Amino acid sequence: MEVEILFFAVGIFAVAKKRLQRTARPERLQCFGEGHAQEIEKGKIHFISLWKIFGIRVTSYEFDSELNSNKQKAKYVNTLTHKKILITGGAGFIGSNLCEELLNLGGIVTCLDNFSTGKKENLDSFKNHPNFTLIEGDIRDLETCRQACENQDFVLHEAALGSVPRSIHDPITSNAVNVSGFLNMLVAARDSGIKKFVYAASSSTYGDSETLPKVENQIGKPLSPYAVTKYVNELYADVFKKTYDFNSIGLRYFNVFGRRQDPNGAYAAVIPKFVMQLMNRESPIINGNGEYSRDFTYIDNIILINLLALTSENPAAENQVYNAAFGERTTLNDLTKYLKKYLSEFDSEIANVEIKYGDYRKGDVPHSLASIEKARELLNYNPKFSMKDGLKEAVKWYWENLK
Ligand SMILES: NC(=O)c1ccc[n+]([C@@H]2O[C@H](COP(=O)([O-])OP(=O)(O)OC[C@H]3O[C@@H](n4cnc5c(N)ncnc54)[C@H](O)[C@@H]3O)[C@@H](O)[C@H]2O)c1
Repeated sequence: MEVEILFFAVGIFAVAKKRLQRTARPERLQCFGEGHAQEIEKGKIHFISLWKIFGIRVTSYEFDSELNSNKQKAKYVNTLTHKKILITGGAGFIGSNLCEELLNLGGIVTCLDNFSTGKKENLDSFKNHPNFTLIEGDIRDLETCRQACENQDFVLHEAALGSVPRSIHDPITSNAVNVSGFLNMLVAARDSGIKKFVYAASSSTYGDSETLPKVENQIGKPLSPYAVTKYVNELYADVFKKTYDFNSIGLRYFNVFGRRQDPNGAYAAVIPKFVMQLMNRESPIINGNGEYSRDFTYIDNIILINLLALTSENPAAENQVYNAAFGERTTLNDLTKYLKKYLSEFDSEIANVEIKYGDYRKGDVPHSLASIEKARELLNYNPKFSMKDGLKEAVKWYWENLK
């Protein structure tokens, strides 16, 4: 009889432990209120009501393997739950991914976008979320920026006209949106008392510097109007600190790719464009001999660094610009090789599609590779997705959503 009771008790303990471990998974954290998240951050769940499990209570439960990611996620939940976050350019590729993540973390999200390059369908998965508001408007209008910033806690400024060739064709509009629009947002955010202003800077700021890897304080001269606009953003952000004591953080994105990036149009980025062409069994055309290289960075790494910048409590991390990348470079020739390999798992014919070569493009830098040491040190940035891991995810998304 005693032996049976002992077996029964051991069985109950094993099941309860498993349930607790499941409960502690990061993806389940949204089920917890703020208080629980705080406790998880400390590495313990105190007084978890086990009535959910067996009607008994435990006083303390230490868990280990998932502790670090739980701690980090709990910090996001604590800092962001019920916080009002304005995301400019929230209907774009990066902005819509940020909107979605911040809503999932309990934020109250407003998106300001004029849909010049962003799309309504990028908002589909969260547009009916009770904590989501859309403002259709233009950052070139100061009053719109002021209204959008009113009562907000944080700003993630993503709105801009991307693409080097676009800025070469139309430098006036790129400047108006990327420089005047940025300045409007800074003024509006300053006057509304925004607590954190994190903005999308760009690796194009390294310009003609040939140093590899790129380190934040060593830049060259810009090679395109787009690069000028993004560098001017950094200069304004710095001057706003000096003159108005307004804090901000700039993230120099390096060739971001992933779900929702637009594959169409004259200014499409290389990865979605090539994926789409290969899915249609058409030959992608590489500009140049294919030996130019880029630090292609998966969207989830970019979400991560935005969350870290937004929730950082390290005063030394403020008023800085950071490389936002994975820290590995891939040539265009290798990129197309991987794309063909991953896509041919869906359609074996894609392995036979020929890659073609064209002229070099004006304004393109030959190589780009980030040092991510500064972000690692000051923001605790530790990107999870290598280029290949991200590419597998992206290819799958394009196949499932756009084929
Ligand atoms: N994608 C990259 O690889 C990359 C690299 C470096 C920097 N960036 C920067 O990251 C940010 C986001 O880029 P993305 O790739 O998501 O581009 P995107 O074009 O998908 O998103 C930009 C968004 O801004 C909106 N927008 C443009 N002009 C506007 C205006 N006047 N008023 C309001 N909204 C406006 C667009 O409609 C769009 O939704 C941009 O600032 C871009 O310069 C991107």
